[in-house]
Amino acid sequence: DTSLRALASKQGLRFGTAVDASQLGTNKAYTGIVNTQFSVVTAENAMKWDAVEPSQGVYDWKAADDLVRSAQHNGQAVRGHTLMWHNQLPSWLTTGVGDGSISNAQLRDILRRHVTDEVTHFKGKIWQWDVVNEVFANSWETPQADGLNADDFWIQHLGSGIVADVFRWAHKADPKALLMYNDYNIAGEDGTNVKFQAVYTFVKHLRKQGVPIDGIGEQGHLDTQYGFNAQQYQADLQAFGDLGLKVAVTEADVRTFVNNATDQVPTSSLAEFAQPYEFSELLKGCELVRQCISFTVWGVHDGDSWIPGTFSGEGYGLLFNVSMQPKTAYSTLQQDLKTA
Ligand code: G3I
Repeated sequence: DTSLRALASKQGLRFGTAVDASQLGTNKAYTGIVNTQFSVVTAENAMKWDAVEPSQGVYDWKAADDLVRSAQHNGQAVRGHTLMWHNQLPSWLTTGVGDGSISNAQLRDILRRHVTDEVTHFKGKIWQWDVVNEVFANSWETPQADGLNADDFWIQHLGSGIVADVFRWAHKADPKALLMYNDYNIAGEDGTNVKFQAVYTFVKHLRKQGVPIDGIGEQGHLDTQYGFNAQQYQADLQAFGDLGLKVAVTEADVRTFVNNATDQVPTSSLAEFAQPYEFSELLKGCELVRQCISFTVWGVHDGDSWIPGTFSGEGYGLLFNVSMQPKTAYSTLQQDLKTA
């Protein structure tokens, strides 16, 4: 068996993908790849707040439950994604906050209920939760003194202390799930490594206070036009590991400029080398850091990736092409896993 999941399991690593719940079980080719290649799955959207509580107090777990059931049936672990994030919030919540009908005190209660209810609903079925997602400032944003993004929806309304609270609420609801902080550019960031430093310092402090945080997820969204400091990336993952944290690569993809969004052929033949190369470095960092427990790619094939919709003119980010055929990046990672 030379599938990614089989090769990775020989190293004690789970190899995963984000899954589009609407295609799982209905699209045969798609489902076949998910179940033969991957041993851990993340709901790309189905566990986000807008999906599970479209109107206040009315939960809809159907899509997420189906995904979890399918995973259990196929020997896959599940990464829960995500409990506190500024995106994909239900409109009843953002509207209420916007028009002042939800106060900050009420917002805190609403968040606590959301975290508690969702973690409780899936209790015992989730391996890792992305408890808090993307609250640290990037170079183009405004950091508070502690490095959190001053303009983040949650930080703005509830302050930095909410991060520790959300971890405590999640732990109370499912003491066995691994609780992660998930973000991009927190390992191997080019240049100053400011974001890594901020996360490192903050998380070290959380641990010292006894806050139940088990690990760090580096998303791993790369772009060939920026280059990638693989050495820094590995050192950063290792630094988190040395704090006694687990680490995971949670949303890997490597995008590049393409001729068009339909067939996603790179405009530069160099990119056809850079794309698998950077993927390989992402995986190797995880393989070399003992505390790295899973490596997840953010989608099955280029045809269902978020990239063309967000970065105009870019694509080619994943391991399978738009026709669901394995690309060079696929065989490169397969080779990396074999020779590790
Ligand atoms: O569900 C609606 C559908 O009813 C509607 O017809 C359609 C028309 O636009 O939109 C659908 O919602 C879309 C949703 O994906 C499900 O397909 C949203 O518009 C679209 O914005 C949303 O994009 C997701 C994005 O997060 C939103 O922030 C991507 O699929 C998802 O890959 C992406 O994932 C994030 C991670 O959660 C966190 N890290 C970054 C990563 C990439 O942005």
